[in-house]
Amino acid sequence: MSDTPQSEPRRSDDRSGADDATAAAAAGSTDAAAAAVSSKTGGIAGPPGGPGGVDGDEPAVARTVGESDEQLQDAWTDYEFDGDAKVSVSDLDTYYGEERALESVSLDIPAESVTALIGPSGCGKSTFLRCLNRMNDRIRGARVEGRVALDDRDVYGDGVNLVELRRQVGMVFQEPNPFPKSIRDNISYGPRKHGDLETGLLARLLGRDDRDAERDLVERALRRAALWDEVSDRLGDNALGLSGGQQQRLCIARCLAVDPDVILMDEPASALDPVATAKIEDLIEELAEEYTVVVVTHNMQQAARISDQTAVFLTGGRLAEYDATDAIFQNPQSQRVEDYVAGKFG
Ligand SMILES: Nc1ncnc2c1ncn2[C@@H]1O[C@H](COP(=O)(O)OP(=O)(O)O)[C@@H](O)[C@H]1O
Ligand SMILES: [Mg+2]
Repeated sequence: MSDTPQSEPRRSDDRSGADDATAAAAAGSTDAAAAAVSSKTGGIAGPPGGPGGVDGDEPAVARTVGESDEQLQDAWTDYEFDGDAKVSVSDLDTYYGEERALESVSLDIPAESVTALIGPSGCGKSTFLRCLNRMNDRIRGARVEGRVALDDRDVYGDGVNLVELRRQVGMVFQEPNPFPKSIRDNISYGPRKHGDLETGLLARLLGRDDRDAERDLVERALRRAALWDEVSDRLGDNALGLSGGQQQRLCIARCLAVDPDVILMDEPASALDPVATAKIEDLIEELAEEYTVVVVTHNMQQAARISDQTAVFLTGGRLAEYDATDAIFQNPQSQRVEDYVAGKFG
């Protein structure tokens, strides 16, 4: 396993989204990052040779150097769990121009739990996450096929309101990206945008003043994100003055303030020191009592510590295995997943 944080490819127009309260700008790839990834891929898998039988129709998958030959099996990804799926993904393909980033990914994500997405750099984890709240819509040339359902509703269906979708499915990025505003305004921005708070002069003249509601909401979100005790006496201060770990918890609080169902996190702790990381990990576990959390991490111990189930993606954008986290780390069915979690490649 690599200890080096992998730098996330970013688009030059990355910025905090002023147009969507909780959805900040989508990260994408630069040519350099794409080249780095393709130089790592070791060509196309050869003849079937993996353990435990082979599905002859299985298409070949590009591999990272060090991966063994192996055909993927559908049985390795059909994870059974009690209760309904909060998010249900079937036959998802994603392309950037001609390049396929995800191939036939199907998985159901249980409500109120932590799902970890792991796999080598460039295998499509961020792409997958962005498919869930349609952040890929913002990337020119990106194309998504297949079905993503949230509570049985098709996320890509006609008439889906993207602002509402991204309220319901919030996102937290690797680099904390608070707005350059006060701590209070970072939290109240989203609810205001959604029309849930009106505190301006005009509102007061019209007889509506929600300043008490704002105070309550700000406190509630900050408490929920385990940040209140550290900032309650300086809510008017600029959020950019907070430490990295505090900024990341603020971004989580900002996401909670609009009352989401699902929280997507893309390597949320990889820019943080160990103490700040531990706080984020604790918080993620707590949030799963109420929310559906899907978290990308390149830190396998972190996945093992905080998640209930783990999906392992491999080079070529295929989902190799999806199961209870203990099963993935202690008794994986795929040889490649076993090698990956043992740190033999990636
Ligand atoms: N905005 C983009 N434009 C073109 N290609 C992209 C873009 N974003 C990602 N890719 C490519 O898609 C593949 C998957 O990338 P990504 O989802 O970022 O992987 P991961 O998060 O697992 O590192 C890579 O080959 C990457 O270069
Ligand atoms: Mg990524």
